[in-house]
Amino acid sequence: MNILVLGSGGREHSLVWAISQNPKCDALFAAPGNAGMEALAECVALDPEDGEAVVQFCADEAVDFVVVGPEAPLAAGVADTLRAAGVLTFGPSAAAARLEASKAFTKEICDACDAPTAGYARFTEAGPAKAYVQAQGAPIVIKADGLAAGKGVVVAMTLQEALDAVDDMLGGAFGAAGAEVVIEEFMEGEEASFFILSDGKTALPVGTAQDHKRAFDGDEGPNTGGMGAYSPAPVLTDAVAARAMETIIQPTIDEMAKRGTPYEGVLYAGFMIKDGMPRLVEYNVRFGDPECQVLMMRLGAQVLDLLIATAEKRLADMTVNWADDHAMTVVLAADGYPGDYAKGTVIKGVEALPQTVDLMTFHAGTKRVDGQLLSNGGRVLNVTARGASIEAARSAAYEAVDQINWPEGFCRKDIGWRAL
Ligand code: AMP
Ligand code: GLY
Repeated sequence: MNILVLGSGGREHSLVWAISQNPKCDALFAAPGNAGMEALAECVALDPEDGEAVVQFCADEAVDFVVVGPEAPLAAGVADTLRAAGVLTFGPSAAAARLEASKAFTKEICDACDAPTAGYARFTEAGPAKAYVQAQGAPIVIKADGLAAGKGVVVAMTLQEALDAVDDMLGGAFGAAGAEVVIEEFMEGEEASFFILSDGKTALPVGTAQDHKRAFDGDEGPNTGGMGAYSPAPVLTDAVAARAMETIIQPTIDEMAKRGTPYEGVLYAGFMIKDGMPRLVEYNVRFGDPECQVLMMRLGAQVLDLLIATAEKRLADMTVNWADDHAMTVVLAADGYPGDYAKGTVIKGVEALPQTVDLMTFHAGTKRVDGQLLSNGGRVLNVTARGASIEAARSAAYEAVDQINWPEGFCRKDIGWRAL
């Protein structure tokens, strides 16, 4: 099979890595890809959000299967365009991608199928929104309805923070994404992520993970896209997962099908778990980044079969072969991230690291110039290891991190502390 992966981050590097190990994979392309993927796939200059251009590329290169990594092309309808052109595609339609693109839509779906989630109200005017905040009190959570690159959520511990957030969002701080706000009850508990493949009807779990969103050790500092992750997530026990499938995931998939917008792809559910009861925090319509990296390390080559079965609506026939293993990924980021940071700084030592089924350095934001590896983003490398225990995975990951010489980068030293 000739396969094209859309995207350029660590998530897509790990997808390319796992897919390339499957004997069904013949030619493998990544668009646009990155320096880390070059050894595994042909990186092509193609805009992942330009559906017509992607269709044309598939025709030119006889691509049989497309895997869409990030949410932006999904929200833009690239999976729809590909399917309409007869290309087998992994990734939901734009209509189904609203589960990530609109927080208000997700709340509507939860209401319709009685899925446990935070109580909420929706507003387009600041006056009534602030009156609601005053009446509810703090802590309270204010969310911009649309895609705001992970920045559209304010967990307000005080009334003033909440009122300011309402003014900011409805005042245009997030453009159209903030034209409507969802104001939610603050949920207590421990957060974990659950990844489920859905072919529109059948749902198949492919792993659990926890990440660290804050930039610095001890979960301090600004929010980021994620500074590290591990799988499995101890708090998402089999019993909690089974309850989540029954009360949240399958009802969501059934509701989407009933509406004529079946969900086909990976559903990334964020839960707040308290006393063994999961409640939905949010959905994403793609693999998490860096959560995907730990899932791929654990799943390996079978991922391609699972993704194809999802696209071909054959998930009912599939099972996942689990090893009793653990994986951890540590993100190396450029000094200053998630604020301003320099690009183009030299990274040494990565080439000397082993690349095995138990240790991979996935590239998130790098480029190669004259044989040198340079940083090319905020999150730059994802050092990912697998072991028989979370401790073993952590030791292996940090040993590899120590081999990398990048004075202009930093990482958290405490990934996995909650599980350890
Ligand atoms: P989201 O973008 O919806 O995942 O929100 C970002 C983060 O805000 C989540 O990972 C949670 O840590 C937090 N959060 C969102 N909604 C709530 C809520 N209703 N109660 C408590 N924390 C929340
Ligand atoms: N790591 C969080 C995300 O991918 O949204």
